[in-house]
Amino acid sequence: MSEDLNLTHLAIMISGRGSNMRAILEAIQSGIVENVLPEIVISNRADAAGLEIAKKFGVPTVVFQNNELRGWAYDVQIANLLDDLGLKRSSLLICLAGYMRILSKQFIQKYRMQILNIHPSLLPSFPGLDAQNQAIKYGVKVSGCTVHIVDEGVDTGWILMQKAVQVYDNDTAETLSARILKWEHMIYPKAINSYLKGKIKINREKTA
Ligand code: GAR
Repeated sequence: MSEDLNLTHLAIMISGRGSNMRAILEAIQSGIVENVLPEIVISNRADAAGLEIAKKFGVPTVVFQNNELRGWAYDVQIANLLDDLGLKRSSLLICLAGYMRILSKQFIQKYRMQILNIHPSLLPSFPGLDAQNQAIKYGVKVSGCTVHIVDEGVDTGWILMQKAVQVYDNDTAETLSARILKWEHMIYPKAINSYLKGKIKINREKTA
């Protein structure tokens, strides 16, 4: 592993399609995201389509399928893997990209401020599952996506970047999801870059 002190070592965690992961890997490849080395893609599902995409980018993949394990009993496998790969806490970034398991408090505390997530709503509205469907059902006229730092709550951490999109009267969860997803692919790499470059200042209460 490279010892370059300016380099951030990236682990991406997925559960499915992996389009946000692809957007991040493309942004690294094209230099939009700088000084980041993708080290590993971790999935909790062997059938995650994103695993094949990761391989095409030449990024190693690992699957932990024993989803019946709860909390830290599951997450310790990931922590041990990151340790075994020599990924030091100080230069590690973990990006959740459609990772559909809730992380344990122990894992979040171990990697405090080093786990980012993208969520398909304007948080704090519509946290949790099926955010786009929640937005349609509620009847909001604007929704969007949010990149945030992961804390111990569900989708409650410090907000790094958001993009609002219009919700139309004839939208379904699918059409809204597609509109939001395009922006997810834009803002996740941007947010990673800004976060790593220290352009986003974190206060106790909020980011600026
Ligand atoms: C994305 O829309 C992402 O925001 C969402 O899952 C989708 C994954 O798509 N994440 C969540 O809902 C997390 N709570 P992808 O696998 O193509 O990136």
